[in-house]
Amino acid sequence: MAQWIDGAALAKQIEAEVAAEVQKVQAAGVNPGLAVVLVGEHPASQVYTRGKVKTCQSLGMYSERIEMPESATTDEVLFAVDSLNQRSDIHGILVQVPLPPQVVARDVLQAILPDKDVDGFHPVNVGRLAAGNAVLKPCTPAGIMEIFKRHRIPVRGQRAVVIGRSDIVGKPVSLLLLHEDATVTICHSKTRELPSVAREADILIAAIGRPALVDDTYVKDGAVVIDVGVNRLESLDKIRELFGEGSQRLADHARKGYTLVGDVHPRVHEKASYMTPVPGGVGPLTVAMLMANTVRAAAAQARISVFA
Ligand code: GUN
Repeated sequence: MAQWIDGAALAKQIEAEVAAEVQKVQAAGVNPGLAVVLVGEHPASQVYTRGKVKTCQSLGMYSERIEMPESATTDEVLFAVDSLNQRSDIHGILVQVPLPPQVVARDVLQAILPDKDVDGFHPVNVGRLAAGNAVLKPCTPAGIMEIFKRHRIPVRGQRAVVIGRSDIVGKPVSLLLLHEDATVTICHSKTRELPSVAREADILIAAIGRPALVDDTYVKDGAVVIDVGVNRLESLDKIRELFGEGSQRLADHARKGYTLVGDVHPRVHEKASYMTPVPGGVGPLTVAMLMANTVRAAAAQARISVFA
C-alpha cells in the first residue's frame, strides 16, 4: 500500500522558503514581479492563472494577470510580451498554454527574454537544461524532483520510466532524472509493449493526459509512482468504475459536473510504495516552483544570490 505524497504540504514548505528569499531580494532593493498572460477563456487556464497570481502576491511579490481575447493574433500577443520584456518591474513572464489555434505558440515562447522565462520553455533555457546548467527549470519537472529530494527517495542508479514526451513535462523531467544519475526510458504513444516497459520502473512518471490509463499491470511492486495527469472525468459510470459507489468523487461530480483524475488508476495505490494524488499532488508543486523561479529570475537580473 503506497504512502500518499501530500503535494500541497510540500508546496507550503517550499513557498515558506521562497518567501524568505523574497525578503532578502527586497532588502537589496528589488521587488520580484511576475506577469501571467492568459489568452482566451480556457476554463482550467483561468483557474490556474488566478492561482499563480494569488500565490505570488501571498508571498509578498508583485504579480499581474494580462488577459487577452480568444481572437488575439500572434502579433498582438508578441506585442504584449515585448512590452513585458521591457518593464524593469517584471522579472518573470509566463504565457499560459494552450494558446488559441491562430496564435503561433512557438513564436510567442521564443519572444520571452530567456532571463524572464520562468516556465523554462525558451530554446535557450531548454539548451541550458540539456547541458545541466539551467537556472530556470520547467516548473512541473522541478517540482517532481523536489518530491524525491524532500521524501529522500533515491534517484541515483534507479530505473525511471517516463510515459509522455511533452516539452512541458516528459522531456524535461527525463533530463533532470538523467542529471541525477537515473537510468531513464522515455515512452510515448508508439512505444511497443508499454505495460512491460513501465513495469521495469523503480520510478514511474505518468504524463500522457489519458485518465487512469496506467493501471496495476504497468507497475512493479514497490515502485514510486508520480501522476502528472489532470483530466476532467464527466462520465458517472467511469467514475463509479474507478472509485466505487459511495466515493466522494460522486459528490464532486454532482457539484461541478466532473471530477479531476490523473493518468494513474486508483488500483495502483495497492502496489506502489509512494504515489501522488490528483488533485493535490504534483499540481501545487508546479505553482511553488514557479514562485521559486520568479524570485530566482529577479535575483539573477539584479545579481543578488538566492537559495544559497
Ligand atoms: N499550462 C499547463 N501547465 C502550464 C505551465 O506550467 N506553464 C504554462 N505557461 N502553461 C501551462
